[in-house]
Amino acid sequence: MTDCISIHPATLPDIPTLAAIRTEAAESSLLTHFQFSPYHNIAAEKESDALVTRLSKRFTDPDGQKFHLIKAVDSRNEETVGWGLVKWEDGSWVNAGAPSSAQAVAPDEEVGPTNPGSFGRYWSRHVIAKWREITGGKPHVTIGAMNVKIAWQGQGIGRMMVDYMYREYGLKNNMVIVQTTASAEKFYQKMGWETVDSTDIDLSDWAGKGMGYGLLRCPQMVKYSWGN
Ligand SMILES: CC(C)(COP(=O)(O)OP(=O)(O)OC[C@H]1O[C@@H](n2cnc3c(N)ncnc32)[C@H](O)[C@@H]1OP(=O)(O)O)[C@@H](O)C(=O)NCCC(=O)NCCS
Repeated sequence: MTDCISIHPATLPDIPTLAAIRTEAAESSLLTHFQFSPYHNIAAEKESDALVTRLSKRFTDPDGQKFHLIKAVDSRNEETVGWGLVKWEDGSWVNAGAPSSAQAVAPDEEVGPTNPGSFGRYWSRHVIAKWREITGGKPHVTIGAMNVKIAWQGQGIGRMMVDYMYREYGLKNNMVIVQTTASAEKFYQKMGWETVDSTDIDLSDWAGKGMGYGLLRCPQMVKYSWGN
């Protein structure tokens, strides 16, 4: 089935398609974050818009973060069916004493489902110190935003994308980290990552009592270089 799939670098015009794939592929985890009707649709749309802005800056903003974007394409109809992102980190984000303003929830900012954009900021203050400890503050590589269309999941495309990243970007001598969700943890374990910690967000804490239920498990995973 994957004979017709090949992996390529993605470019600026691909970004709206990549965001749409993410909205579809990540539906179940978005539903866990934003389980509160009617906020789910609003949150999905806002998250998608924010993703388009963030990814586009890679190509339009000279000071934007540098990362590689890749896409999986069905050669029969040129349909993009999955994508992923790989980024080199100098360690500054984990070494920051406090989260940057883009990462931190402002003191007067309301968190919860009425302000879905606050979730990432609320969550990041829980994970930065963990990553500082895990990476020792050293440079590392992050793989993220692996998303395959639902109809194509479980057919080897995620593996093809990881193999492509390691081959094309020479990752084998790097510490490669993944901040993921419980639903993708087994995929990364199959690909050789090890779960070293996990941030469990209490949704009733984020959303307010009576609004959110359960823990959202977000594992921290590491694949060390061959030498380690
Ligand atoms: C996670 C994801 C990118 C994996 O891509 P995929 O193309 O479905 O994965 P593959 O088919 O290449 O799977 C590779 C191996 O992992 C296993 N695997 C994949 N997802 C799994 C899961 N959820 N549970 C258990 N095993 C899984 C496959 O069975 C396969 O094992 P095998 O080589 O022994 O046959 C894809 O399922 C996805 O888009 N999920 C939703 C979005 C998401 O959560 N992304 C992660 C954000 S960081």
